[in-house]
Amino acid sequence: MNETVLAKGGETRSLHPDAQIVTAVTHWTDRLFSFRLTRPRSLRFRSGEFVMIGLERDDGKPLLRAYSIASPSWDDELEFYSIKVPDGPLTSRLQNIQPGDAVIVRPKPTGTLVLDALLPGKRLWLVATGTGIAPFASLIRDPDIYQRYDKVILTHTCRGTAELAYGRELIASLADDPLVGEEAGHKLGYFPTTTREASEHQGRITDLMRSGQVFRDLGVPELGADDRVMICGSMGLNLDVKAICEERGLVEGSNAAPGTFVLEKAFVG
Ligand code: A2P
Repeated sequence: MNETVLAKGGETRSLHPDAQIVTAVTHWTDRLFSFRLTRPRSLRFRSGEFVMIGLERDDGKPLLRAYSIASPSWDDELEFYSIKVPDGPLTSRLQNIQPGDAVIVRPKPTGTLVLDALLPGKRLWLVATGTGIAPFASLIRDPDIYQRYDKVILTHTCRGTAELAYGRELIASLADDPLVGEEAGHKLGYFPTTTREASEHQGRITDLMRSGQVFRDLGVPELGADDRVMICGSMGLNLDVKAICEERGLVEGSNAAPGTFVLEKAFVG
């Protein structure tokens, strides 16, 4: 049954039982935006998991897609990072949300990009393209990751520098984060790369791993037995990084059987 609430201006409106309220929206480029929602009190999740979210259609039925939660598990609100697909059934509407609007959040978070799906190791690589950075935005704000690893390295590959803005701002914000600021300061490495525009690090992360450039630039050993890897991006990225991991002797893990790398495709609306 829908709950009726008093909206701005005094009129009442009917809310879907799983509705949460938009608290903030940031447009990063004409193709990328992030938003924050109130968090259902009953929603528990592990940093790195995804959940089904969406909007009510005109016929009242929800239109839902999987979205990684970009905020950490301790946060009072939920954050999401999304692409805008011009004729995408959900994102063509979702990109227009404003603070005060309702977004449906289904109650069952799940996913494999969680610390428990990996066996203990020294360094953790978080390899993302595009909106695949979202689950890692959650994980790098969670103190647990710094308890488990000596070094955490986030790589983010996008076509151009404008698409790196969300990640860059997130990394900058960690400096004065009271929970993880200090540990992130000496344990977190950030390696943004662009493929179609000049920047400090150019090329696909896969090529930079195969050439050894990323390891030389960061001053860390080549990928090997001490490393753990989480992968989140396009199908192509996932398969190519998976192949690199397997060549180096790493084994895919899951919630049921933890391993030395895990992957999930970045969901596109
Ligand atoms: P590229 O420009 O060489 O295709 P998209 O915008 O298409 O989702 O891609 C996001 C980023 O992911 C782009 O920089 C793209 O590089 C890169 N990318 C796509 N496929 C792969 C892959 N198989 N391995 C590594 N990077 C990839």
